[in-house]
Amino acid sequence: MRLQNKIALITGGTSGIGRATAELFAAEGARVAITGRRAELGEAAARQMGGLFAPADHRRLDDCERAVRETMAAFGRIDILFNNAGVVLSGTAESTSEKDWAETMAVNVTAVWRMSRLVIPIMRAQGGGVIVNNASDWGIVGARNALAYCASKGAVVQMTKAMALDHARENIRVNAVCPGDTFVERWTREGYFRESGGADEAVARMSEELPLGRVAEVGEIAKAVLFLSSADSSFVTGAALVVDGGNTAQ
Ligand SMILES: NC(=O)c1ccc[n+]([C@@H]2O[C@H](COP(=O)([O-])OP(=O)(O)OC[C@H]3O[C@@H](n4cnc5c(N)ncnc54)[C@H](OP(=O)(O)O)[C@@H]3O)[C@@H](O)[C@H]2O)c1
Repeated sequence: MRLQNKIALITGGTSGIGRATAELFAAEGARVAITGRRAELGEAAARQMGGLFAPADHRRLDDCERAVRETMAAFGRIDILFNNAGVVLSGTAESTSEKDWAETMAVNVTAVWRMSRLVIPIMRAQGGGVIVNNASDWGIVGARNALAYCASKGAVVQMTKAMALDHARENIRVNAVCPGDTFVERWTREGYFRESGGADEAVARMSEELPLGRVAEVGEIAKAVLFLSSADSSFVTGAALVVDGGNTAQ
């Protein structure tokens, strides 16, 4: 029970890494609020964990504000903010559209800043807190056909370091987790990997390219987020913890 009596706000908790982290946090004793746009999934997940679903489209400032307000109304404090919501839109510098660039930056970068801006004063007033930002190994090394995504996750790594310095003396630790390829339901959606021959072929190729010979499961990323969110990482701030099966070591 490493998060006993802690209150955690997790953005993008309706599926994937966010949902797995919310479940792990709840199992470790935390009370959890999750956000996202898919209300049915969010409500069901929150019910299962005995937590709160705060519907939010993180492209919108008022939705970010409402999610924080609803979390405070339900639980009265926020000890952990996991800025997890993110989108992956492919494209090179030439092929990335204005719309895809704007969406990537709005969700992956601006929302991380806004949610942090909203929660930091709450943590300061409480005497401290922990922020974990979900970046990516592609925030550290480049990837083909992922221009906007790489730019956004590089920004998340740098925002993490900047916030860690600004708030260290306020007992607010800020770290990033940098997952590598992690199997999520999104990958199985019709047409998601159409450019690379379908999900099975894409996963086989990714596995082949990774030193550990397989992609990650969401629970493996959740465990790293738990480490960064708990007292186990009490002397860690400003770090970008790579959980990528060895990808960035190559
Ligand atoms: N899977 C990987 O291989 C991998 C690798 C490195 C990093 N990551 C990062 O992990 C994070 C989670 O992604 P995932 O892989 O777990 O995929 P996912 O299952 O698609 O999860 C994405 C989450 O973000 C939320 N989200 C997206 N746009 C949103 C918006 N405008 N407003 C509110 N919520 C929004 C989604 O909720 P709704 O759809 O309900 O809005 C969903 O809960 C992302 O930041 C991603 O970049 C993933």
